[in-house]
Amino acid sequence: MDDMIISGDGDPVCRIYFRTSPDGLAALVRGCGPVFIVYDNNVASFASSVASMTGAVSSFGTDVSEEGKTLDTVAGICSWLLQSGADRNALLLAVGGGILTDMAGFAAAIYKRGIGVAYIPTTLLSQVDASVGGKTGVNFHQYKNILGVVRQPLFTYICIPTLRTLPYPHILEGAAEMIKTFIIRDNGDNYRKAVSVFSDIASCGGSPDAVKRNLPLLEELVREAVLVKADIVAQDQFEGGLRRKLNLGHTFAHAIEWCSHRISHGQAVSMGMVLAARLSEKLSICSPGLAGRLSADLERCGLDTVSPFPVSELSSAMVKDKKSENGKVFFVLIRDIGDTEIVPLSVEDVVNLL
Ligand SMILES: NC(=O)c1ccc[n+]([C@@H]2O[C@H](COP(=O)([O-])OP(=O)(O)OC[C@H]3O[C@@H](n4cnc5c(N)ncnc54)[C@H](O)[C@@H]3O)[C@@H](O)[C@H]2O)c1
Repeated sequence: MDDMIISGDGDPVCRIYFRTSPDGLAALVRGCGPVFIVYDNNVASFASSVASMTGAVSSFGTDVSEEGKTLDTVAGICSWLLQSGADRNALLLAVGGGILTDMAGFAAAIYKRGIGVAYIPTTLLSQVDASVGGKTGVNFHQYKNILGVVRQPLFTYICIPTLRTLPYPHILEGAAEMIKTFIIRDNGDNYRKAVSVFSDIASCGGSPDAVKRNLPLLEELVREAVLVKADIVAQDQFEGGLRRKLNLGHTFAHAIEWCSHRISHGQAVSMGMVLAARLSEKLSICSPGLAGRLSADLERCGLDTVSPFPVSELSSAMVKDKKSENGKVFFVLIRDIGDTEIVPLSVEDVVNLL
């Protein structure tokens, strides 16, 4: 597939390449400084091909988990860079899912006041979401991603065949964010296509064969989702307005995750999007029946749609939303699939409406 370059106000914000193997990396790192690779241990063999393709000076493997997404782990990455002699010209390549790329991006932003970083995302979620847009960070105390910076990578290199080994629950995590993106904006019939691909995979119990069979369609959809996200980020890198749309369903989702540590982010986003659709119906922003249709589509894709907690129970967590301003939370409401708007509302009003 062709390279993709998305520009902001004259400056390129994201350079994203789609390739079927690490082979194209050699040309991309030519002319950059010495390459250092930090990778998720679950993709060690792919990372080793990346290392040989780029002539990396040193590689550092780490186990990833939300609990380990901490300043200490970032400090460990910085220690390895220091001990390996990385100077200010170094290029850090991050190979893994969103946890790894978020931490590597943060480490690269602070090491020697900033070295170049590029992402090679290996989960569906990191391909459609985490590796595009420049947000980096770690969890701190009980807050997710509360410390971090917005800083763009030099490039993102998406290799869809890495998804062959990704366990099905993590395919679903990416499915929720991809579907969310197409609800926000759909430059064609991508929402329908995504629902069709993920329901086909779900109907086969999420089998690796079903994922493999759908890889060409997934590649097309990842590309479309990246186009939407990158275009939004190019217009509003620091989330002063338009970028808030990417939080569709997320205020509810974060509250659901806060109340139950057993519900994954993707499943919570799915429930949150249905709540956002119900709220849109109550405010007559969309026609009646949208929430029901959305919920049926998400369920066909293998996603949960019913929050185990009533909205009244979610309210204290929603008030803590780190993106609230003057007591109002920016809720993203759905006019129709592919058409959304941002409405500041008090949590109290939302609870009363739902
Ligand atoms: N920066 C952003 O804009 C942004 C956006 C969305 C999410 N995030 C962050 O992303 C993180 C979640 O990312 P994620 O869903 O990629 O999870 P993850 O990084 O935990 O990866 C999921 C699991 O899959 C494994 N894995 C990764 N690639 C694999 C592969 N190809 N084959 C087999 N196993 C593989 C990992 O080791 C891990 O166990 C969260 O911390 C979230 O805060 C960031």
